[in-house]
Amino acid sequence: MSKRVTRTTCIGLDDFGKGIVRIDNVTAFVSNLLPGEEADVATVFKYGKLDHAKVEKRYTSSPDRVRPICPYYPKCGGCQIMHLSYEKQLEYKTNKVKELLHKFAKLDIDVLPCVGLEDPKRFRNKVQKPVRYNGRHEAVAGFYEAESHHLVPIKDCLMESPLSSKITKALLALINKYHYPCYDEDRQTGLIRHILIKTTTDQKQALVTLIVTDENLKGRMNFAKDLIHQCPEVVGVVLNINSRKTNVILGERDVKVYGHTRICDQIFQNKFLISTQSFYQTNSRQIETLYGLAIEFAQLKKEDVLLDAYCGTGTIGLSCADKVKEVVGVEIVSDAVHDAITNAKINGITNAHFYKDDATNYMLKQDKKFDVIIMDPPRKGSTPEFLNAVKKIAPRKLVYVSCDPVTLARDLALLKDSFTIEKVQPVDMFPNSLHVETVVCLQIIKK
Ligand SMILES: C[S@@+](CC[C@H](N)C(=O)[O-])C[C@H]1O[C@@H](n2cnc3c(N)ncnc32)[C@H](O)[C@@H]1O
Repeated sequence: MSKRVTRTTCIGLDDFGKGIVRIDNVTAFVSNLLPGEEADVATVFKYGKLDHAKVEKRYTSSPDRVRPICPYYPKCGGCQIMHLSYEKQLEYKTNKVKELLHKFAKLDIDVLPCVGLEDPKRFRNKVQKPVRYNGRHEAVAGFYEAESHHLVPIKDCLMESPLSSKITKALLALINKYHYPCYDEDRQTGLIRHILIKTTTDQKQALVTLIVTDENLKGRMNFAKDLIHQCPEVVGVVLNINSRKTNVILGERDVKVYGHTRICDQIFQNKFLISTQSFYQTNSRQIETLYGLAIEFAQLKKEDVLLDAYCGTGTIGLSCADKVKEVVGVEIVSDAVHDAITNAKINGITNAHFYKDDATNYMLKQDKKFDVIIMDPPRKGSTPEFLNAVKKIAPRKLVYVSCDPVTLARDLALLKDSFTIEKVQPVDMFPNSLHVETVVCLQIIKK
């Protein structure tokens, strides 16, 4: 292993928010360095290959550099670009989408400027935090350092709601009081792995889930009542059982401890139930902006049949129900489908139908004519089979809502012979992080 330190200037930001530097014809990527900044960069080579690189000393500051608002940054891996001004973060995300569409789909199209938040903090309505012991054998919760499983204990994350910070504090004190052992990843011992807190936009309700290795928590009912006594916003406490050696946070089984298993949020005029397992957009203050764009791009007509593919709890489809003849939703998680059906009922919506199925399977057996399709797949994107089925159905409009521009680009490459890409609109759902959501408006090419 050989280490050397070189004074160099950052030439750009990569897709992970790292500064790009060139050292002796080798490209290295370093955290916390912005374009134009000069720094001593230490590079470590193993068997002649670059192993890692790190800023040792920074000599100049970019005009785009800001003092991070969070005292845990950059140690905590939750945020990656908090040292970049918010205006430049939005510019970075717009360019990132543009470049990735070019790189993976050979698409050279205009990308609209990323829509940001007015105040880019306290936007998260869901947090899941690992729980471990500190040196004094007290339960602590926080987030992992970047690219590691080393916990940074955090008292108050500025991205979460104050209510969720308050609940975390109460939960940790109770975990200590009830002597519930915290999980030890190496030894695979202990009970409490993670806490999951979901809160409503108005901060009036919260659902608490303890992710545990075993459901036998002594005095769990009293634990829940104690928590609700301290935090009356908590409407229910649920256990999620995960005894597997895995990085996947949630196990498959939920057990109600006390109270309700759902909270109720509002998007536009409709109410939506949110449970432990079902997906719900994590940035409360940006949901209506995101869905508003999807609805605008869909240009719905009263006689339309709309497919809401990868529909989660039906939030997008139900928000469109009063604008179309019929909404059909398809989703793989049964709890989410159950919530979607209930959501239609509680809002008195009778023209929406939801099916539990793999979206691709559903499409392959479809003979229904959809006028418009809105698809919002998970990070891994869709499948060639799904996209080919969409081409066969040939909806007038296709709206693709994506949380990963790389898989979006891959999927658009398959669609571009049948659809014109009319608009690409990034939306910032996760300020200070690398993530960027994109809404794409596609129009069928008449052949
Ligand atoms: C990004 S979320 C979008 C959910 C919803 N549109 C919303 O805005 O809340 C993606 C959804 O796709 C679902 N999903 C993942 N794989 C799927 C598949 N193969 N078939 C159908 N749904 C799937 C997930 O469970 C999740 O609810």
